[in-house]
Amino acid sequence: MAKKIIAVAGATGSQGGGLVRAICSDAAGEFQARALTRDPNSEKARALAALGAEVVACNVDEESSVRAACEGAYGVYGVTFFWDHFSPEREQAQAAAIASAARAAGARHVIWSTLEDSRQFIPLDDPRMPTLMGRYKVPHFDAKAEADASFADLPTTYLLTSFYWDNLIMFGMAPRRGENGKLVFTLPMGDAKLPQIAAEDIGRCAYGIFQRGAELIGKRVGIAGEHLTGAEMSAKLGAALGEEVIYFSPSFDAYRGFGFPGAEDIGNMFQFNHDFAERFCAARSVEFSKSVNPRLQTFDEWLNANKSRITIG
Ligand SMILES: NC(=O)c1ccc[n+]([C@@H]2O[C@H](COP(=O)([O-])OP(=O)(O)OC[C@H]3O[C@@H](n4cnc5c(N)ncnc54)[C@H](OP(=O)(O)O)[C@@H]3O)[C@@H](O)[C@H]2O)c1
Repeated sequence: MAKKIIAVAGATGSQGGGLVRAICSDAAGEFQARALTRDPNSEKARALAALGAEVVACNVDEESSVRAACEGAYGVYGVTFFWDHFSPEREQAQAAAIASAARAAGARHVIWSTLEDSRQFIPLDDPRMPTLMGRYKVPHFDAKAEADASFADLPTTYLLTSFYWDNLIMFGMAPRRGENGKLVFTLPMGDAKLPQIAAEDIGRCAYGIFQRGAELIGKRVGIAGEHLTGAEMSAKLGAALGEEVIYFSPSFDAYRGFGFPGAEDIGNMFQFNHDFAERFCAARSVEFSKSVNPRLQTFDEWLNANKSRITIG
């Protein structure tokens, strides 16, 4: 019997890459991965083709391109790329193009990688954090939540993702050596727990969700490998790196002022994660995540496999 095609946006990236690799590693499975990329000739795209994925040229900024790439797909994995352009409106347009392509293809199951609307927790007139770009508290969350509406008439599973451990490698969040020579891990989370996950496990969880199928359509599910405090993360980092790592939790205002691109958005995000930690964690069950991805990693396991890639700043 012909395999069911899953069209995967962001296939050469973290979330989509994990999904393509999960599908390809299950050779006897019911699905065939179709990897969407702007450049089928890139090294990453060729690596996915070598695993058995069908690699298709696609630009999610162009609806006609996504429509062509999703033709004949049973499933569609939708993820958008806020950090490539920092534009909530462009992210929403990307989501709308993916939803429109899934609709045109008659997709039977869509997974939309989304996040909460922080404004439902902290209204725009709440002075505890600045309003950004005129109408957002956490732009990269709020934009995705608004884009949920694009998927409302589709057979969609809304997937709430978590902070990637890979941010320690790719997002400049590795411990840094302070003036006293000690390693310091900076995270403005106070004593609150933050749901977190290996980026690769997001795609693996998505694969499990496609396998479960109908029972998760129309549902909002959240995933995490663990819920840890900054102090717990620092202790685990210290054990993996073989050296004490001191936890430093700056104020949210200080973090927003760090000056890197997106610092205000990320500062607001951590404040939102901190102030509503209980609800934020409750929405991301480790048990559920394990049930759809039995290989779900803990932070210790991820650190053991990846510590050599963490570059101390
Ligand atoms: N970092 C975190 O902790 C975290 C946590 C939760 C959610 N998120 C969300 O994750 C999203 C990003 O997902 P990711 O981390 O999987 O992305 P990623 O690793 O940065 O990869 C994105 C991939 O998407 C492709 N891409 C970018 N623009 C495209 C376009 N116009 N058309 C087609 N493909 C395009 C690129 O592939 P090609 O160059 O091959 O086309 C790239 O490899 C963000 O919106 C972010 O808010 C991040």
